[in-house]
Order: sequence, then structure tokens, then C-alpha cells
Amino acid sequence: EKGNYRHFMQKEIFEQPDSTARTIGAYVNVLKQTVELPGENGHAIDWNDVTSLHMIACGTAHYATRVAEYWFEQVAGLPVKTDIASEFRYREPALPKTGGLALFVSQSGETADTLAALRYCKEKGLKTAAVVNVPTSTIAREADLVLPTLAGPEIGVASTKAFTAQLSALAAVAIAAGRGRETLSRDAEIRLGKALTQLPRLISSTLALDERIEKLARDIAKATDVIYLGRGVHYPIALEGALKLKEISYIHAEGYASGELKHGPIALIDEDTPVVFVAPFDGLFDKSLSNLQEVAARRGEVILISDEAGLRAAADAPAHRIELPDCDPFVAPILYSIPVQLLAYHVAVEKGTDVDQPRNLAKSVTVE
Ligand code: F6R
Repeated sequence: EKGNYRHFMQKEIFEQPDSTARTIGAYVNVLKQTVELPGENGHAIDWNDVTSLHMIACGTAHYATRVAEYWFEQVAGLPVKTDIASEFRYREPALPKTGGLALFVSQSGETADTLAALRYCKEKGLKTAAVVNVPTSTIAREADLVLPTLAGPEIGVASTKAFTAQLSALAAVAIAAGRGRETLSRDAEIRLGKALTQLPRLISSTLALDERIEKLARDIAKATDVIYLGRGVHYPIALEGALKLKEISYIHAEGYASGELKHGPIALIDEDTPVVFVAPFDGLFDKSLSNLQEVAARRGEVILISDEAGLRAAADAPAHRIELPDCDPFVAPILYSIPVQLLAYHVAVEKGTDVDQPRNLAKSVTVE
């Protein structure tokens, strides 16, 4: 049931304060201020035995693993490899004989390539875990350990609340890994756990930007190409923003690491090319700002998604500004997913596409 919403996708975007809170609640013990992985009684993964982490998924779920890659390296010092399932399964990847953990991420738990990659890893003797939204799915049944996302059923073909639930679960798993490997202090565990617990409230305030983004969408809907740029953990959010826009609005979009701008995509910039910067005021902001100024100097239409400090620092270089609340940099990629979803949604509505059932796409890709 869509209730008062026009589309399931819109309803699911607006459900994210609840869907993330439910997911985070399954991992963060607020009273003890610890992160505990559900379903493993604290012992199933011995993080000290894990020497490498392989994360495998498709599409939006793959972008969740690309964000998590930064988290695992940062808080757990764990070597990570992320892969698209359809690539992984056919290239005879070199896998460690011992100590390898393979982590699969899937909303449906039925994606053919992801399932095949899971079976391949089991055959090779790796320990397997799966972040899945459908608990009765094949991937959930076959993985050694299930790490649930509690997004609830997702109807819109374009993934929204499943993505932020995947990120929430993966953030918690990274914290648990950091504790297990003793790379994360007790204080840091408490801080990151708190940042996660406070996130749903920040998502609520970010959803209040809906009207502002709807107005902006009228402008973006005229474009034929849109570029999304981000750095660090926000690079995969740029990739996800571009994917969301292209799949539901059919506007061609590309996501790039901001630092790659000079290495090619800057040639595309002209006054008709909107460039969306996903850039909170963090340690990398200055770098993004110089990229932003390069785009503005070439009369590109800059949209800056940032916070108060970031928008102040950018002065009048961006043509459009979206101001998010301040948040802990650790959870920022989850929060910054919201405006890119809203932008794609409103551009698609403006273009009059079938938002919940975009052409050529299926909710669950059970054939390769
Ligand atoms: C994009 C989207 C797809 C899925 C991908 C994997 O909005 O929904 O890219 O993320 O097909 O699906 P799951 O997560 O079910 O394995």
C-alpha cells in the first residue's frame, strides 16, 4: 500500500528513518554501548583469524560494499577486495587458502550472479556471510552466517531503503571487526555506535529538504547528461546517485571520483551539464572545492550537497546548494544517500517516467 505517497519509491525513501533505525537497532546495543552482530552470539566470526575480506554484490548493493571498503580499512585495518559478482565468478579469482572471509550483499537474496559467487566461495573453502534483506532467500539459506538488513519489503525497482539498510549493517560489521581485531579503541566504538544510533534522526531532518530538491529537479530534468562527483566514502555515493538517476529518469549520468575530473570527464563540462558534488565539510573538502571551482570556471552548473561549513566555504561558486545537517563523518555516506535518491526521484517524476517500474528493469535479477 502506497498510503499518501505517489509511488512506492517515494514511500520507501521516506521510510528510511524507520528502516535504518530497525537495522541499526539489531546491531547496536545502546545500553552496553557495543556493537554485536545478530545471529552469531558474538563468536561466529573470529576477526583475528580473518586476513582478507572479499565483498561481492551487484548494482546498488555493490556500491554499498564500495562504501564499506573504506570503513573496514579505516576502523579494522583489514585488506578488502570488492567485486561485481558477474566479474568475480568468471575470472578464477585468487583466494586465500586460509583466513578469507567472503561477504555477499543482496536485497533480494536471489540475484543469480551473487548466488553463483557465493557457491564458488563455499566450494573454495572460504567462510561466507551475507547481508540480506529477505531472510527466506536462497543466499540467506546458503551463507554460513546471515547479517540481516531490516528494511522491510522493497517494492520500487530502484533500491533506496535497502541500500541505506545495507550501509547501516555494514557500518556495524566494520565496527565489530575493529573491536575484534583491536584496531578500534573502546572510546571509538562508543562514538561510532552513537553516530549510528543518532543517524535516523538526521535522516528525518534531511527528508525535510524534499521540496527544495523537487524545485531543483525541474532544472536538472532538462539535462541530457549529469555528472556526480565525490571523494573517499562519498565516491561510491556519487556512483549510486548516477545509477539512481539513469535507471529511473533515463538521463545519462556518470559518477566519478572527484580527483579523476582532470583525467578525462572535465572535457564534458559545459553550461548544459549539471555536476552534482557530494561533499560534506570533512578532511577531503578542500580537494573537492578546488574541483568544484574548476567546474564552475568552465560554466558547468554546480549543485553542491554539503553542510553549513561546506556551503560557506564554497561561497557563490555553486549554482545550487543543498544543506544537510552536520553529522559524524563515519555515517555521512548513509546520510548523503538521501538527497541523491530524492533528486533522482523528483527528476523522474518531472520527466513522467514509470518510477516504480522503469523500462527494461526487473526487481530481482535471477538470470545472468
Ligand atoms: C538499483 C538496483 C539494482 C540492485 C541489483 C542487486 O537500484 O536495485 O542495481 O541493487 O540488481 O540486487 P540484489 O540486492 O537483490 O542482489
